[in-house]
Amino acid sequence: MSSDLAAATSPQAAMRATELRTILEEHLYRYHVLDQPTIADAEYDALFNELTALEAAHPELAVADSPTQRVGSKVLDAFAPVTHRVPMLSMGNAFSAEDAQNFDRRCREGLGAVDEQIEYACEPKFDGLAITLVYVDGVFVQGATRGDGAVGEDVTENLRTVRSIPLSLSATHGVVPKLLEVRGEVLMLKKDFQRLNERQAAKGEKLFVNPRNAAAGTLRQLDSKLVAQRPLAFFAYGVGAVEGADLPKSHSAMMAWLEALRFPVTRERRVVKGLADLLDFYKDIGARRPQLPFEIDGVVYKVNSFAAQEKLGFVSRAPRFATAHKFPAEEATTVLLGIDVQVGRTGAITPVARLQPVFVGGTTVSNATLHNEDEIRRKDLKIGDTVIVRRAGDVIPEVAAVIYAKRPADAQNFVMPTHCPQCNSLIEKLEGEAIARCTGGLFCPSQRKQALLHFAGRRAVDIEGLGDKLVEQIVDANLVRTPADVYRLGLTALSNLDRMAEKSANNLLIAIEKSKKTTLAKFLFGLGIRHVGESTAKDLTKHFGNLDAVMNASVEALLEVNDVGPVVAQSLRNFFDQPHNREVVEQLRACGVTWAEKEFVHVPPSKQDLNRITAPDMDLPALAVGPFTGKTVVLTGTLPTLSRDEAKDKLEAAGAKVAGSVSKKTDFVIAGAEAGSKLEKAIELNVTVLDEAQFLELLQK
Ligand code: IVH
Repeated sequence: MSSDLAAATSPQAAMRATELRTILEEHLYRYHVLDQPTIADAEYDALFNELTALEAAHPELAVADSPTQRVGSKVLDAFAPVTHRVPMLSMGNAFSAEDAQNFDRRCREGLGAVDEQIEYACEPKFDGLAITLVYVDGVFVQGATRGDGAVGEDVTENLRTVRSIPLSLSATHGVVPKLLEVRGEVLMLKKDFQRLNERQAAKGEKLFVNPRNAAAGTLRQLDSKLVAQRPLAFFAYGVGAVEGADLPKSHSAMMAWLEALRFPVTRERRVVKGLADLLDFYKDIGARRPQLPFEIDGVVYKVNSFAAQEKLGFVSRAPRFATAHKFPAEEATTVLLGIDVQVGRTGAITPVARLQPVFVGGTTVSNATLHNEDEIRRKDLKIGDTVIVRRAGDVIPEVAAVIYAKRPADAQNFVMPTHCPQCNSLIEKLEGEAIARCTGGLFCPSQRKQALLHFAGRRAVDIEGLGDKLVEQIVDANLVRTPADVYRLGLTALSNLDRMAEKSANNLLIAIEKSKKTTLAKFLFGLGIRHVGESTAKDLTKHFGNLDAVMNASVEALLEVNDVGPVVAQSLRNFFDQPHNREVVEQLRACGVTWAEKEFVHVPPSKQDLNRITAPDMDLPALAVGPFTGKTVVLTGTLPTLSRDEAKDKLEAAGAKVAGSVSKKTDFVIAGAEAGSKLEKAIELNVTVLDEAQFLELLQK
């Protein structure tokens, strides 16, 4: 069809071009503003290509507000200055409930309404960059940054590429003024930021610290074609100059009007009355902050009535009628004082940043994880560097970036120690592994502590009350060296420990006693054999039935077990070949740790295996088969009612295997709140995603 029309007469071509522009902009609106696409990308592309061909064949049809203009244009030397018709102001800040209270009081006083509850419009404070968009006769003609508030930079070509910014306004959606300046924030959605950084990493290019920096770096690109490839978003929150139309009478009505004109405005806005409501809004948005698709650094309160706003006016360059109630910053600058290493249960060495204490994300942070040596190299981190520390929500603090400009001349490289700081054993890094390990095994007090914690964990033998503080003490006091020693602890020794009254010592002894009755799978898992997770421990139990059979199995025999490969088999063999490990097992048995055992005859095929190979003439009872039987399922995020362990138990009872990461082999992903990259991977690989309700419903089938 495109070729026909390319050759068509101008009036026909013009009509089709107008039609295509309307259709394409409608789809951009549905996709980028409403978040409800109604056509496939390929269909959109076909229409877009048709319009491109048409405009190429009929250059006289080209217009500035065509969606074909969203791909970027020539590279600029610099951005031209733009003087704002109405200055772009900043706002006062509130950092506490008391500050918010003072803001409300000043508004009531200023309006001579001390005893009344003022109506406020509340919205998020977007953590992006303020811009202004100028529309003349409904056509987008200029976009500029805030700059110093009076003069900004002309970034029109870059903003044209932002798909959610309308290139033209239609009178069918609302009153279109002769001149309209719309103000708002350009930002990058969290998911787009993550994807952008993944792409940067894949190309070996520098990572952006946060979505705000990514958006700022993008908006300041002189090559708009590059900008077109980076996903920027926009949210409107106000207007500047308006000519040739009357404005609505309140902020909320104006937002509704902008929304009708198809500007993206956030749904997270509310009209409230009085101080208590303001604080409720702050709390509510704060709680949902991690789930919001964009970064915010607080909320904004605005007196809703424009007449009241005018009456309150301005003090110096900030309005009296609005304030930003800020959240504690999630990022802060501090100095990297040193890098220590921590030793994990399997000897894994994790470098930890020792920081000059800094208040970030609501607490004082003095340590941050650095993951591994490669990570330090990738970030080009040196001791003495000034760094940006990030602590978002309950996530472990991390070093987000280095400020190279502040690097002192005597900054030191991190050198991985050759010997374990805890036990002085050799640290080794195997070929092809990112992680260095202490070779001390249970000789290393640090590994011993972690091993004990693991053994006592809920999914292992489950000793309630044996937590990290206590383990730290009993190992340091040399009361316990191996898990077996736990069963020899007496009341006197325990009662002598710090903060340990006789009653809690007694409770602990009861819990220790209770843990003696366990299952083989829990026991095997509790031993902390490398690569032997819960599911492998269960497979081993199912296959061998008793501990001696597992301990004595050859690598070949181990390889017969469902899902056991060479690495796991070798690791099991290595573990049980060590006399001291066998010794600990024997001691545990001698202390009375027991479980039900079965006779191991000879690789008895499981019912599941038999089912798989059941030929019609084999008269075997079929297993109860449900939707999860034999399926691989991954859990991610926080489910509304079930804990991770409960969900796992239910899945395993239904015959599913619960895996830790998503791959092509995954059958289902069950996702809850704050599901991150696993959910994205599931979507990418077309894996069925269930929420908790759907999961529970399927379980019934
Ligand atoms: S209104 C007269 N609303 O905050 C007030 N600003 O401190 C003009 N910002 O540069 C701004 N979210 O970049 C307003 N919902 C919001 C906002 C918001 C973020 C930023 C904006 C401005 C700064 C003012």
